[in-house]
Amino acid sequence: MPSDLPRREALRQLGAFLAASPLLHAADKPELTDSTQLANVFDFRDLARKLIDPVAFDYMDEGGKDEVSLVENRLAFRRIILRPRFLTDVHKIDVSTELLGTALDSPIYVCPAGGKNCFYRNGEEETARGAANAGAMYISNGGVESFLASADAPSHWWQYTTGGQFRTEDSMLDFVERLEDSNCTGICFTVDNMLVSHRERSIHNGLVRTWCNLGEVPRDSEGNIVRKPGDRTWVTGEYPGRLYPSPTWDTVRQLRDMTDLRIMLKGLMIAEDVEKSVEIGVDTVVVSNHGARQLDHTGSTIEALPECVQAASGKIPVLVDGGFRRGTDVLKALALGATAVGVARPYLWGLACFGREGVARVLHLLKTELALDMGMSGVAGIREIDSSLVRVRNWSYEGGLRL
Ligand SMILES: Cc1cc2nc3c(=O)[nH]c(=O)nc-3n(C[C@H](O)[C@H](O)[C@H](O)COP(=O)(O)O)c2cc1C
Repeated sequence: MPSDLPRREALRQLGAFLAASPLLHAADKPELTDSTQLANVFDFRDLARKLIDPVAFDYMDEGGKDEVSLVENRLAFRRIILRPRFLTDVHKIDVSTELLGTALDSPIYVCPAGGKNCFYRNGEEETARGAANAGAMYISNGGVESFLASADAPSHWWQYTTGGQFRTEDSMLDFVERLEDSNCTGICFTVDNMLVSHRERSIHNGLVRTWCNLGEVPRDSEGNIVRKPGDRTWVTGEYPGRLYPSPTWDTVRQLRDMTDLRIMLKGLMIAEDVEKSVEIGVDTVVVSNHGARQLDHTGSTIEALPECVQAASGKIPVLVDGGFRRGTDVLKALALGATAVGVARPYLWGLACFGREGVARVLHLLKTELALDMGMSGVAGIREIDSSLVRVRNWSYEGGLRL
């Protein structure tokens, strides 16, 4: 509402002023060398909110439009309840698993996310290092090729694309060949962001989209945002469109014919699209609504998971991401047939607070929560998890769940 704008602007400027104030930082920053003081991923979120520019935090946190799916990605976990079994031997719990024949230390992996430099300096490499330290699978947004070619790289990493390289056969081939010459596991092709959605927190904040890709929200010494001529803010009211045709299933077929690299399609929400993926020979799919940042009103990903698992009918593994914040969330997805579960905001909170150490710590926290929750449910290994571990109820209430 227009009448909200002055208040919002005033709050934003106050937030920026506080964020830039050395006094507040001195008083408010806890010992940043000890991430073990934080008990769960939400503690990392609370701290990240204090540490980074409020405009960058909104960019990380927000969803599309009314953020209905953003809330539902979390709320839907309320409707799935666990059916713990007791008196089984859980003195040793093993969360290691397998994806496409490759061993994973844990089913929890690092989703691709843009804008990391706004949350921490050299954010992509810090993330890759954090994932490697945690032994987690990592999907790269790019720009860290030399690190990924080094011995310190995560042992299992994918290269993300939205298909910008797939416009011509030559550019697709070039992209594929470069990856084939690297130690990349495969291509993660995100299919749900062919158009720029409306992220209205960022629109209200006057975010220039390149800020987060390039580095930071530029501010002067008084905390005011500094704009340059030609800066393009995120707006509404522009008719959607792209300069070039967007990728289609034919593009996926072409990619499949071109390479033996693994292909992961990320962003599917319906059985029909999973069936097409299987038909074309895609190796794996990710049930995802882009962290609720693209189309709103898709419902949650955990709700979409069962129909997608059923459509895959055991022929390809199905992964899922969106709103996973607790070991129990992951456990529920595994019970509903997911092979692995991706997180984005949780590790971004870790990144914003402690760089690579925070990324690794968040992944470790989630992994240990999963192990504990498995043990308390009576399962000692991932293979023992099946649909008998959950019951879906048709009612819920909204209290008590941290969003
Ligand atoms: C700040 C941010 C940037 C993202 N950028 C991308 C991206 O560039 N490509 C992509 O496929 N997904 C992107 N995502 C979506 C994530 O890969 C993932 O699908 C989703 O965020 C998982 O939900 P969660 O954040 O609730 O864990 C982004 C998510 C966030 C929070």
